[in-house]
Amino acid sequence: MKKLFIKTYGCQMNVYDSDRMSDALAASGYEATTEINDADLVVLNTCHIREKAAEKVYSELGRLRILRQSQEAKGKKMMIGIAGCVAQAEGEEIMRRAPVVDLVFGPQSYHKLPELVGRAANEKVVETDFPAEDKFEHLPKAKKETTIARGLTSFLTVQEGCDKFCSFCVVPYTRGAEVSRPVAQVVAEAQNLVDGGVKEITLLGQNVNAYHGLDEKGNSTGLADLIYRLADIKGLERLRYTTSHPRDMDDALIEAHRDLDMLMPYLHLPVQAGSDKILKAMNRQHTAKEYMDLIDRIRTARPDLALSGDFIVGFPGETEEDFEATMQLVKDVHYAAAYSFKYSTRPGTPGAEMDGQVPEDVKYERLQRLQELLNAQQKEFNDSCVGKTFPVLFEKKGRDEGQIVGRSPYLQPVQVEADLSLIGTIRPVSMYDTGKFSLFGKIVT
Ligand code: 5AD
Ligand code: SF4
Repeated sequence: MKKLFIKTYGCQMNVYDSDRMSDALAASGYEATTEINDADLVVLNTCHIREKAAEKVYSELGRLRILRQSQEAKGKKMMIGIAGCVAQAEGEEIMRRAPVVDLVFGPQSYHKLPELVGRAANEKVVETDFPAEDKFEHLPKAKKETTIARGLTSFLTVQEGCDKFCSFCVVPYTRGAEVSRPVAQVVAEAQNLVDGGVKEITLLGQNVNAYHGLDEKGNSTGLADLIYRLADIKGLERLRYTTSHPRDMDDALIEAHRDLDMLMPYLHLPVQAGSDKILKAMNRQHTAKEYMDLIDRIRTARPDLALSGDFIVGFPGETEEDFEATMQLVKDVHYAAAYSFKYSTRPGTPGAEMDGQVPEDVKYERLQRLQELLNAQQKEFNDSCVGKTFPVLFEKKGRDEGQIVGRSPYLQPVQVEADLSLIGTIRPVSMYDTGKFSLFGKIVT
């Protein structure tokens, strides 16, 4: 067996894709390794969302060049491939900047990997087309053994790409137009995961609630109906989905949160900013009030639902007053968790051409203030869990002897003193304390 080492950057879809690459290459005799020095093939599955993320790839390639030289001195060959969104966005430019790279391939070509790797043994290969065929159709399904090795929870991509064109975002260019997988294909993949021992599935898509895959009769099916189909799979205990766009949060999906207990009461619903002027410049296609009204409707349907979000500070034209509107929105919503970023200019996006670019020190200072508020809200949320009882899905051994760790419905790690045999089960746990990153609880018998 040859050895494959994949390093994954960025979002959860890249995590999913890396597993699919391993599956695809297993057919050509590659076995995954966590030891880079053993690797015959090293793949960096990259992220292009912000400049910093993209630059990480080039620093890693600098290290890989040195590693490859020392391997060659020992007579060992090592092939280097770049996958993901940097590959898609920069293509041949990567080979120019880093001649050590043998193979550059975009997210739409993972099903062709065995062939591409074969070609890359003899020549430099760049593959960044958006092919007409359905890559998911051609990707081999995960084997039962590998599913078990990958754990009790799994990602499952149901749609890819985005048609929203937020003016800061590279996704519509790197991942292409929105494409939803057919219902039957998703159900079959979920069944396969459950057969391999998976209890919790997170449905993935850059704009997952825009899902509109075709069912067996050729009818367009929304995310809520897909969720109901998956809920029928015996042995599947929990469902989640991410990332959603406020515009696509339809009534059916809100009702699914009300009616379906296995759909976890935790929703990642990015708003990015709180000022209508900035939301408009970002092309988010909704106002702050529309977002707040939506949150009200969701919380009415499912009062114990908690929210997480994404925020960008320092988008072109953002004044102190606009930023204050973001702070106010955060205060009004009360997030359980959030990701916040300084605006990063992405070449080729409309935002890069806009007037009123905000100086770096102003962005930095606003980010500090926003993160302080978001961290305080996260702590407040975690503290509010003490004294409550939630179902916890136990996933692995804890840090200390006699401890096991699971996840609450809100994705918080929960540490409990209990027998290892409970791993893989869901138990009601009463929370008695919070740590920096986790909750502590006792199983309720
Ligand atoms: N600059 C900063 N943050 C960005 N994001 C997307 N594009 C940019 C950018 N150009 C953030 C958004 C998005 C998350 C995945 O990354 O908040 O929701
Ligand atoms: Fe990017 Fe906006 Fe699409 Fe999200 S919805 S992937 S932020 S363009």
